[in-house]
Amino acid sequence: MLMATASGKIILLGEHAVVYGQPAIAVPFRALQATAMVAARDSAPVWIEAPDLERRYRLDAASPGDPLALAVRNAAQRLRLPLHGLVITVRSTLPVASGLGSGAAVCTALVRALAEFAGQTLVPDEVSAIVYESEKLLHGTPSGIDNTVIAHDRPVFFIKGQGPLPLAVVRPYTFLVADTGVPSPTRHVVADVRAAATRQPERYQPLFAEIGATVRAARALMTGEAEGELGPLLTRNHALLRELEVSSEALDTLVVAAVSAGALGAKLSGGGRGGNMIALVDDDSVEAVRAALQGSGAKAVYQTDFGDD
Ligand code: PMV
Repeated sequence: MLMATASGKIILLGEHAVVYGQPAIAVPFRALQATAMVAARDSAPVWIEAPDLERRYRLDAASPGDPLALAVRNAAQRLRLPLHGLVITVRSTLPVASGLGSGAAVCTALVRALAEFAGQTLVPDEVSAIVYESEKLLHGTPSGIDNTVIAHDRPVFFIKGQGPLPLAVVRPYTFLVADTGVPSPTRHVVADVRAAATRQPERYQPLFAEIGATVRAARALMTGEAEGELGPLLTRNHALLRELEVSSEALDTLVVAAVSAGALGAKLSGGGRGGNMIALVDDDSVEAVRAALQGSGAKAVYQTDFGDD
């Protein structure tokens, strides 16, 4: 039996505007993971088992819209792996529809496990391309940021249609990630933003452009090209996401609670309307912010550190 894992991800800045060609910054979220196992079995069919979702089905009976089945087929084709006599089991501790990249993480783990099973190496760009096909089924018109950051497993500065651009983070950052507990499928929110942006381009295009400017300013700080504080850029990005109408009362409550308790900045992360928010903290504020988030309705609070490694 062969096994592989993949981390989740958090979008630090730039969600939604990234769908319209603006840059975004995302980092791996290692606190939660997806795992895939591939085992050989004598009997002919390929089975996909997802015990967390209480699902077990044959690959040849999967619906055409099944992202896992598509990832299996695309990976097997790339690896020239015959599709018979396999049991593929996927598990994940990432909440679904919560902006933490659960779908892309499960597919990435699955593609990596099939490559291991085939005794081959797929480079991150190849894994990312296969997972992107499944993301299209999950998200409709994804920018590709989730599969890119998860397959590359490092911080990325991402522009749709381009590979991950290097993001050499020169200092450590600590974020708290708080879950509203409200699932919110990204494809619905992305579709709503598209409809609104089509109706009112004069309102939406400047918002996308300002989000893009915020992301570029954040990159300059994170890479040491400029001096300044990242926190206010995050909070500014949240205000712009509110103007895009992708926040929610629960998200806004957590953002206000985090900033009031001393977070350096806070914002929703991912598709919005539910799912998760992030708060940038330092050693002095981390415990107060954690307590404030827990006391303001967060269903779970995680900590993630990156940079300077
Ligand atoms: O998968 P999520 O919920 O983290 O959202 C991805 C970010 C969006 O910009 C909202 C959509 C996309 O495809 O980039």
